[in-house]
Amino acid sequence: MSAVKELDTPAVTIRLDIMEDNIRRVQAHLAKHGIGNRPHIKTHKIPAIGKLQMQAGAMGITCQKIGEVEVFVDAGVADDILLTFNILGQAKTDRLMALCRRAPGLAVVLDNEVVARELSIAGARHGVDVRFLVECDTGFGRTGVQTPAAAFDLARLAARLPRMQFRGLMTFPNREPTTREFFERALALFKGAGMPVPVVSGGGTPALFTAQNIPMLTEHRAGTCVFNDVMVVSSGTATWDNCAMRVRATVVSRPTDGRAILDCGTKVLTSDQYGQKGFGHVLEYPEAVVGNLSEEHGIVDLSACAERPQVGEIVHVVPNHCCVVSNMVDELYGVRGEAVEVVWPVAARGRVR
Ligand SMILES: Cc1ncc(COP(=O)(O)O)c(C=O)c1O
Repeated sequence: MSAVKELDTPAVTIRLDIMEDNIRRVQAHLAKHGIGNRPHIKTHKIPAIGKLQMQAGAMGITCQKIGEVEVFVDAGVADDILLTFNILGQAKTDRLMALCRRAPGLAVVLDNEVVARELSIAGARHGVDVRFLVECDTGFGRTGVQTPAAAFDLARLAARLPRMQFRGLMTFPNREPTTREFFERALALFKGAGMPVPVVSGGGTPALFTAQNIPMLTEHRAGTCVFNDVMVVSSGTATWDNCAMRVRATVVSRPTDGRAILDCGTKVLTSDQYGQKGFGHVLEYPEAVVGNLSEEHGIVDLSACAERPQVGEIVHVVPNHCCVVSNMVDELYGVRGEAVEVVWPVAARGRVR
């Protein structure tokens, strides 16, 4: 174990006490409302953290990419996995079928007939049953069928294809009231046809503590809540005290009285502003504005700060979007008090296929 003060910068640190509390609070909230907790591992990409979430009571995990599923199955984190991405092309369907054999609880989402037919052909080719959920766009405007009738039609079509097993409906993120209204209408269609819908899966950290307002949800997928970030704080779902990820950075220059330069730029904080102003929140100087980044420089406007940092000073920046920051570095440092307790390789870093 080494001392935090010896950590070279920039370093992406995780306050273990805060992360553990986040895992506990999320699990307790969903359990209280009888909703399964299926954390999205894209936020941390670290099997050891997935295991902590499973030990706390998660029913399974969510992955966005086959490469993430491979890493987490190899590490024995969970059998019950939902892959929330349309899978296309034989290179991917072959890998998916191999995973279906290894993790019998694996299910995948789809939102169109082309994907359904490819999965069915792959299932037949490999002699494997493919469990699928239909993804529904309930207001976000990304992937997903557009109407309850389209969800029903696609589920029925896909379920009739060889090797395809319908498991339920999925959306991201929960939006009120549109998500509830969409699912109400969709479930009525399935009920009318006598077609069971065992799973209704919602998601998103800002929607986590109100997931119970969508009574048909059987499970919720949240990722960011394990660390939290500027986006989550601005949504009102967390406070700075709930933010476990902090980029430890050095003030390398003070070119003017009103400006500080940090040694973390887009290669650590990324240029993903996630709908927020600036590029992060400096905990020691809350009035400071990380207004601009170049690759290796964080350019901080200090004009609103009464106190201003010196060259050589260490500061901690909560990023706007913690999930993309994990993907930028080889290791995350788990710290408790003054000690670095654990160094985690970011095992699923870069697994974008
Ligand atoms: C399909 C899906 N489910 C769940 C999540 C988790 O959302 P959050 O990171 O807001 O918790 C995401 C995040 O991008 C997602 O894309």
